[in-house]
Amino acid sequence: MATISIVSHSLRGRTDRQAEAVLRGCQSVPGVTVHLLRLTPDQVGPGVRWHDSQILEMLKASDGIIIGSVTYFGTVSAVFKAFLEATFGLWYTQEFKDKFAGGFTNSAAINGDKQVTLMMLLTYAAQMGMFWVPMGDHPGANWSGADRDGINRLGAFLGPMAQSDTDVPHEEAPTPGDLLTAERYGERFALVVRHWMGEGNYVTERAPDAAATAAFGSLGVKVTDLFPG
Ligand SMILES: Cc1cc2nc3c(=O)[nH]c(=O)nc-3n(C[C@H](O)[C@H](O)[C@H](O)COP(=O)(O)O)c2cc1C
Repeated sequence: MATISIVSHSLRGRTDRQAEAVLRGCQSVPGVTVHLLRLTPDQVGPGVRWHDSQILEMLKASDGIIIGSVTYFGTVSAVFKAFLEATFGLWYTQEFKDKFAGGFTNSAAINGDKQVTLMMLLTYAAQMGMFWVPMGDHPGANWSGADRDGINRLGAFLGPMAQSDTDVPHEEAPTPGDLLTAERYGERFALVVRHWMGEGNYVTERAPDAAATAAFGSLGVKVTDLFPG
């Protein structure tokens, strides 16, 4: 059975809610085992050495690993970075090679430099020889008729981003659209991994970009007239 692990670090619970949404999405795919593994500061010992042998064993046994961290100063948190560095031995033996990878992040500002966090996670996955699964949905809120709280409202292609107002209780953050985005991504990731394991069908969903349709439509032309496929 395809096995997926989600590794996440959240201090105040908001990124945790995003991780739980990714988990729900993965769990919506039958025939997939999913683990949510939370990183905590007590896993980091002297010399900033992260260690939790149980988590490492679960990752080794996974076919896909989704890594997600709160964004701190435009990158992953110190706890998350300590975890990544602790997998040096797994890089050395290419233990994660040909596993699937994905990433997500949450921060306070709408932009918040979250792209840098996702780029960092993508670089880690590439160094580990993993296959990155991108979002797979067009940006969701970049035209006048868009649902401002729908899927991929923050418009990231690399993976789900989420935004959480700093003063609301963590039960009310991130925004509903961002949780939907995370859920949608989890489902896609699980479908891809299950397919790769030869355990289920994968049907590619294609949808024309609504914003481009609207933009070209306002000029009285069709996208496909100017850019035939
Ligand atoms: C040290 C520190 C650095 C932060 N850096 C950023 C940042 O670069 N961009 C941003 O939008 N928010 C930043 N924030 C805000 C957090 O990303 C935000 O509050 C987030 O929702 C907290 O998630 P959590 O509840 O999972 O811990 C920072 C917060 C702290 C404490």
